[in-house]
Amino acid sequence: MLVFRISRFELMLVFSVLIFLSIGVESKCSRGCDLALASYNIWNGTTLSFIATAFSTSISEIQSFNPQINDIDLIIVDTRLNIPFSCSCIDGEFLGHTFFYSVDSNDTYNIIARTYYANLTTVEWLERFNRYEATEIPVNALINVTVNCSCGNSRVSKKYGLFVTYPLQPGESLSSIANESGLPSKLLQDYNPGVDFSLGSGLVFIPGKDQNGSYPPLKLSQNGISVGVIAGISVAGVAGSLLLAFVLYAGIYKRKMGKAPLLPAAFEDQHMQPGQGYGSTLEKTSDSVALVAAVSLELVGITADKSVEFTYEELAKATNNFSAASKIGQGGFALVYYAELQGQKAAIKKMDMQASKEFLAELKVLTHVHHFNLVRLIGYCVTGSLFIVYEYIENGNLSQHLRGSGNDPLPWSTRVQIALDAARGLEYIHEHTVPVYVHRDIKSANILIDKNLRAKVADFGLTKLTVAGSSSLPTRLVGTFGYMPPEYAQFGEVTPKIDVYAFGVVLYELISAKEAIIKTNGSTTTEARGLVALFENVLSWPDLREDFCELIDHRLGNDYPLDFIWKMAQLAKACTQEDPQLRPSMQSVVVALMTLSSSTEDWDVRSVYENKALVNLMSGR
Ligand SMILES: Nc1ncnc2c1ncn2[C@@H]1O[C@H](COP(=O)(O)OP(=O)(O)OP(=O)(O)O)[C@@H](O)[C@H]1O
Ligand SMILES: *[C@@H]1O[C@H](CO)[C@@H](O)[C@H](O)[C@H]1NC(C)=O
Ligand SMILES: *[C@@H]1O[C@H](CO)[C@@H](O)[C@H](O)[C@H]1NC(C)=O
Ligand SMILES: *[C@@H]1O[C@H](CO)[C@@H](O)[C@H](O)[C@H]1NC(C)=O
Ligand SMILES: *[C@@H]1O[C@H](CO)[C@@H](O)[C@H](O)[C@H]1NC(C)=O
Ligand SMILES: *[C@@H]1O[C@H](CO)[C@@H](O)[C@H](O)[C@H]1NC(C)=O
Ligand SMILES: *[C@@H]1O[C@H](CO)[C@@H](O)[C@H](O)[C@H]1NC(C)=O
Ligand SMILES: *[C@@H]1O[C@H](CO)[C@@H](O)[C@H](O)[C@H]1NC(C)=O
Ligand SMILES: *[C@@H]1O[C@H](CO)[C@@H](O)[C@H](O)[C@H]1NC(C)=O
Repeated sequence: MLVFRISRFELMLVFSVLIFLSIGVESKCSRGCDLALASYNIWNGTTLSFIATAFSTSISEIQSFNPQINDIDLIIVDTRLNIPFSCSCIDGEFLGHTFFYSVDSNDTYNIIARTYYANLTTVEWLERFNRYEATEIPVNALINVTVNCSCGNSRVSKKYGLFVTYPLQPGESLSSIANESGLPSKLLQDYNPGVDFSLGSGLVFIPGKDQNGSYPPLKLSQNGISVGVIAGISVAGVAGSLLLAFVLYAGIYKRKMGKAPLLPAAFEDQHMQPGQGYGSTLEKTSDSVALVAAVSLELVGITADKSVEFTYEELAKATNNFSAASKIGQGGFALVYYAELQGQKAAIKKMDMQASKEFLAELKVLTHVHHFNLVRLIGYCVTGSLFIVYEYIENGNLSQHLRGSGNDPLPWSTRVQIALDAARGLEYIHEHTVPVYVHRDIKSANILIDKNLRAKVADFGLTKLTVAGSSSLPTRLVGTFGYMPPEYAQFGEVTPKIDVYAFGVVLYELISAKEAIIKTNGSTTTEARGLVALFENVLSWPDLREDFCELIDHRLGNDYPLDFIWKMAQLAKACTQEDPQLRPSMQSVVVALMTLSSSTEDWDVRSVYENKALVNLMSGR
């Protein structure tokens, strides 16, 4: 067999030329940093949940950087909050982060920049990163909202490594900001050379404090050749093109041999730790060809986002070598581990299967889908098994809350909120993402609960996963019995309505705390009955109201409004109709649940008043 090899010497040669070429072609930024803050001026009418959604974060995450928040429903107009986000090098040009905003009717770039994003971006900046003209932004489109950020400047000071993107407001000045932040004016000016702080608009970068209230110092940047240098190569002219041709040739050749890993091992260098440069990687000759392939892809710009791939070592280290103690869950085809990665709590899902190239491309897309009610996909790793890294949701799944021991029973209002949260997450992937997704495996085990008892839908977009090659695993049947609508179980027809059906089953679970399939011991055999059939039987006969009450979770006690439970059951029934066309869209489900949720709130308030009256009565007032 013909074996194509590049000797270490040839590689060194290639690299010295590359390095030579890049001299004087300095690129404007290299890598970003995990954390930056956005100073958000609260406007009249906003809420923390709006802000959390706009910045793809959670209320609890915002709270951790803003200890001044006492009550999440009470935020003070015209004060500022620091919102955490990650800062990366965009197009090799500048440091920033692109958030996604789903356009509502009557939204304009002006409102989005000045109000919704509190001047953290500008109309010009929105026009630059979106293909829509200002006059014709389609409703429900997802637009790119790019916010600048900074990771520090070692020439100014190494003491500060976290920066706030701060929109200046009329009435502010260098001295007022210095006074307020407690930092010297000179330092602020040095970080923002030539900026007039009294301009009343524009962005400045000022050192910020972490969750512990201290200024984290600048992290040392990596040694060796920076990613920026490689980016620089792409503009290196004719000689560069020749090299590009060679490098591409090497890259393509390697891939043609068919033995290449799905992604070249050297992609891992995008997560180089301080001290490991490309220089040190060169010493591993076996990886060198792959490295060239990686460089070639870099040059043609295939890897736009550098934040999504982790190395096996990183994941092993973060999970204590995938120790039993780190294991937090087990699904049909996966083990789930807890990890702390780059200071962030994460859940790593390990699947013994190989992901196809298309699937990896899909994963990259999914890392850009951000919504408060969707578990965020942070990244992945393809060494050995397929690992998918998610944000960690600290409070288990809905199934555990309904049926597991060790959790307090969920009160009715919380159940309505959880239903609404999950419905919103689903509505988002059905209607607002590009491309849109059908989840296909909605069930209570896939609805995770955070510490504020808010729900997030897990595992969306993973259904395209196929088992490749000689793996001994059976081809995965997507979906779970008890949640599958008839047309899907029979014909495999995939439409958003299959999620609506499964969601209806989850609603029945919220009411009854029963499993989607109930096993009962018959006299001789074990019988299984679907929850849908069980409810349908009772709901079709209004005079079976007592039987209906029997189905309600006993853990709700007597503390629930029967009317609302009846309404939710009717909604569940509509969702689980046999004819998919008759089922409502998730959008209608959200509207129905919002109505239910606000009347539940009224009911809560009423019961509080009633209790107060009761207390007053008993204390003789
Ligand atoms: N991001 C996360 N944060 C915290 N816990 C998680 C996270 N993801 C999964 N888990 C826990 O691990 C369990 C198993 O997850 P997984 O998604 O594999 O399960 P599943 O959906 O029940 O199974 P399947 O893979 O067959 O659909 C979850 O039910 C949950 O308790
Ligand atoms: C916010 O707006 C409402 C009406 O739109 C108004 O009644 C209220 O006073 C405003 N609050 C502040 C703090 O400006
Ligand atoms: C958009 O504007 C129209 C006309 O001004 C108004 O009728 C409609 O209610 C507005 N929609 C929203 C969502 O504000
Ligand atoms: C953004 O700037 C404009 C112009 O200075 C101002 O009117 C508006 O209130 C600012 N937005 C916020 C949320 O502070
Ligand atoms: C963000 O930074 C770029 C490059 O420095 C600059 O051109 C742009 O105006 C900035 N955007 C905003 C909204 O300040
Ligand atoms: C957002 O940015 C991405 C990547 O640059 C681009 O493909 C997409 O078209 C942009 N979205 C809009 C609405 O222009
Ligand atoms: C600086 O802040 C203090 C309170 O922290 C305030 O009393 C003082 O007036 C401020 N000075 C200026 C110049 O803004
Ligand atoms: C905050 O302090 C705790 C305890 O000292 C430490 O474990 C944690 O890593 C710190 N967090 C940050 C972001 O520095
Ligand atoms: C069903 O019967 C088996 C054996 O008779 C018993 O172990 C099991 O607990 C029973 N299950 C239920 C739900 O009653």
